[in-house]
Amino acid sequence: MYNLILLDHFQNPRNVGKLEDADGVGLIGDPECGDYMRISIRVEDWKIVDIGFLCKGCPAAIASGSATTDLACGMMMEQAMCLTPEDVAQHLGGLPEDKMHCSNLGVGALHYAMADYLHLISDEQPESDTPQT
Ligand code: FES
Repeated sequence: MYNLILLDHFQNPRNVGKLEDADGVGLIGDPECGDYMRISIRVEDWKIVDIGFLCKGCPAAIASGSATTDLACGMMMEQAMCLTPEDVAQHLGGLPEDKMHCSNLGVGALHYAMADYLHLISDEQPESDTPQT
């Protein structure tokens, strides 16, 4: 079912972990299967200089996290913004058709991490929802 490149990324995933000094963090889940991916990035001069991922998911999802971080580390932000699930699948030597959706997790989490770095995501609540003391 899985090719040798994908199995290598699954068994020896690159960039596993959580960056303590992350500049941006992205978390995304797949509502169909309940799997999720968290990617954290460190950025210097518009370049992704360090990256880590954590994943709860199937072998294809874990391999996709590994491949996504492998591709994105060292990229300029604008290059990484253009990464697609198809690029990840290609880096893995292909994914079975019914596992293509797993590659969305890596790219989705990466894009959310970049959006977080750029402060495009707000976790502040609207003023009217702020509890009064
Ligand atoms: Fe859920 Fe692969 S089956 S991400």
